[in-house]
Amino acid sequence: MTITDAPAAARPSLRDRLRSDTREAHEALDASFADMFGDAEGARYRRFLRMNHLAHEAIEPILSGSPLDWTGRDAPDAGRLAAVRRDAEAIGLPPEPAPGFPIENPDLPEALGIAYVLEGSRLGAKFMLRALKREGAGSGDPWPTAYLEASSDARPFAHLIERMDAEPMNEGMVRRAVSAADETFRFFQRLAEDSATRTIRV
Ligand code: HEM
Repeated sequence: MTITDAPAAARPSLRDRLRSDTREAHEALDASFADMFGDAEGARYRRFLRMNHLAHEAIEPILSGSPLDWTGRDAPDAGRLAAVRRDAEAIGLPPEPAPGFPIENPDLPEALGIAYVLEGSRLGAKFMLRALKREGAGSGDPWPTAYLEASSDARPFAHLIERMDAEPMNEGMVRRAVSAADETFRFFQRLAEDSATRTIRV
C-alpha cells in the first residue's frame, strides 16, 4: 500500500506500519503463552484454544459484514472457526456466548487492521504446531490440533497483504488501521487474561 502523503523513499507499507506499531501488543500476547507446551496438564493450551475460539466467534461475523468483503474475494479459506470449535469441544471447554467486539462497524482501513491481526496469527501457528509435535503434549490424550493445522496455511495472510498493497491509503487511514489492529490485539489479550482467571479443568 502506498502512503500517499509520505515522500517516495520513506514509504513504509501498511503491513510495515501494522507490524511495527503493534509489536508491543503482540509481544505481550506471546508472553502470556510462554512455554505453552511445557505445561503437561494442558491448562495453557486450553486457555489458548478458548481465547482463539471466542475471538473468531466475535470477529469473523464483523469482518463478513465489513467493506473488506470477507465472504467474497477476500475471504480466508473457511475453516478456522469450524476447526477451533471442534478443538474446543474435544478438549472439553464449556459452550459460551460470543463476546462483543469493540469495533462493530469497521470501515475499510479498520477492517484491514482487524484482519491483519486475525490472519497474522497464522504465522505463529506454524511454529506452535512444530513445537507441539516436538515437545509432546503430556501423558494423557493427544491434544486436538485442528485449529493449529488449519492456521498453518499462510496463503490467506499473503492474500490480505496483496489486498492492502492495492489499496491507496493516506496517513489518516493508516492510523485507523493501526488503531483497529491494536484494539484487536487488546481484545485477544483480555480474553487470554479472562481465561487465566477461570478455573479451567484439565
Ligand atoms: C501465543 C503465542 C504466539 C506466538 C509464539 C507467536 C509467534 C509468532 C511468530 C514467530 C511470528 C512471525 C512468523 C514469521 O515471521 O514467519 C508471528 C507473526 C504474527 N503473529 Fe504471532 N504468535 C502468537 C500468537 C499470536 C496471536 C494470538 C495473534 C493474533 C491475535 C498473533 C498475531 C501475529 C501477527 C499479526 C503476525 C504477523 C507480523 C508481521 O506482520 O510480520 N500472534 N507470531
